[in-house]
Amino acid sequence: MNKRILAICLAPGVAFLIWLLAPAPLPDHWAEPEAALIASLSISALPPLSPDPSNAAADDERAAMLGRRLFFDPRLSVNGAVSCASCHRPELSFTDGLPIAVGAGPGKRHTPGLIGVAYSPWFYWDGRRESQWAQALTPLETHFEQGAGRSAIVRLLATDPEYRTMYQDIFADLPDPTRFPRSASPQGGELAQENWRRLDPGLQFDIANAFANAGKALAAYQRKLLPGRTRFDDYADAVARNGAVRQGQLLNRDEIAGLKLFIGEGNCVNCHNGPLFTNHDFHNTGILAGAGQLPSMGRYDGVRLARKDPFNCLGEFSDAPPEQCLELRFARDGNELAGAHKTPGLRNVTLTPPYMHTGQFASLAQVLNHYKVAPTAMLGHNEAKPLDLSRGELRQLEIFLRSLEAKPAAAREWLQSPFSHGRNPC
Ligand code: HEC
Ligand code: HEC
Repeated sequence: MNKRILAICLAPGVAFLIWLLAPAPLPDHWAEPEAALIASLSISALPPLSPDPSNAAADDERAAMLGRRLFFDPRLSVNGAVSCASCHRPELSFTDGLPIAVGAGPGKRHTPGLIGVAYSPWFYWDGRRESQWAQALTPLETHFEQGAGRSAIVRLLATDPEYRTMYQDIFADLPDPTRFPRSASPQGGELAQENWRRLDPGLQFDIANAFANAGKALAAYQRKLLPGRTRFDDYADAVARNGAVRQGQLLNRDEIAGLKLFIGEGNCVNCHNGPLFTNHDFHNTGILAGAGQLPSMGRYDGVRLARKDPFNCLGEFSDAPPEQCLELRFARDGNELAGAHKTPGLRNVTLTPPYMHTGQFASLAQVLNHYKVAPTAMLGHNEAKPLDLSRGELRQLEIFLRSLEAKPAAAREWLQSPFSHGRNPC
């Protein structure tokens, strides 16, 4: 065969090979508003944490070290067996894998993750706490969580030599543990409440103040739990740099299609926006009540409880002058908050099933099906509208959510118990 004929015969094959090997054409011709929206979801758009004026120790490294110890220490519980980390397990993105949490007793709600939670203006599914240190005090006194009570916590700080040194290095002196009983708290059982009433008001204040400081250290620790860079962030930054992305290089076709639905037809970005994929607000999404529970009033009750909390920004244990307590003073109120819950962030959401405030859905597929149907709310109005999406499109949304996985951007020590080799501190 002469060379010319050979070349003609091989040409289609060579062309096919070149087509196969060549980089795919630039895939994503995101129109300008879409490109800007994608860039706004990137972790590169996440600002540094703003200071917490109500917590003078919020960014004190020594407080973070003390907080880490407290976080992993089961002695901070009524039965010596439950620490924050029992429910917020680092290897599960600080969740517990259960629909409803179990502490010293069975709980009522699902455990949310803690990575990036320091950016929240409000804490809990119903936002009933408005600072991270006030939140941290709540499980310590809730009987079905740790339930130790404030005097037991302060006694431990005062009697454990390591805690005592660490605490006194940051805060003032601790109250003398011989002057108050082991169990005394305005939140405890009958005996604890009676013991609390018998203490003189000055000592009550000193105990509550040291207890608040334990919360401030726990908050300082959790400010270290920052989210890491995902494949999606590399993609979003490339889009922001004018689309120099090759299809399949950073995100695959399905992931990109899922992203398109997420910011488009799916309306997800209405609530899950910004670099943490949450608007930090409260919405009613028509989630059914948990099994055997009444529908949750959500934020309607939450805002009232936050205002009444003695450890809030306007309270006597806060380090902020009242004019800096803006969130609390200007918190939105109204009937539309009935049944509204906090929009969770979606980074690492694939690592934290089950989902929703009482773990109603076992899988992301169930969550997405819920959004497709958008059922009538049991209480208030479902703000999400039904979606005309095929099963394939729901699957693409799910595949996109998988691109949001990354290790936290926190040094290893913050992700591990300081009590090495599983050794108990006791
Ligand atoms: C028994 C399990 C359990 C223990 C122990 C526990 N938590 Fe939680 N945590 C939960 C549950 C459940 C929620 C959500 C409760 C709700 O919204 O009503 C939660 C919520 C939170 C939140 C709010 C997250 C958000 O997105 O608003 C933070 C922060 C937090 N916990 C930190 C801590 C700290 C710090 C400790 C230890 C002092 C602790 N938790 C102990 C189960 C637990
Ligand atoms: C109207 C606001 C709103 C819209 C729109 C919305 N979400 Fe949500 N999302 C929420 C709220 C609020 C929750 C928590 C609800 C609860 O537990 O009661 C939530 C929970 C979730 C969860 C569970 C997270 C967890 O950790 O439990 C996922 C996943 C999720 N949404 C994904 C999406 C996707 C994907 C879309 C688009 C199809 C979407 N959301 C649209 C507000 C919204």
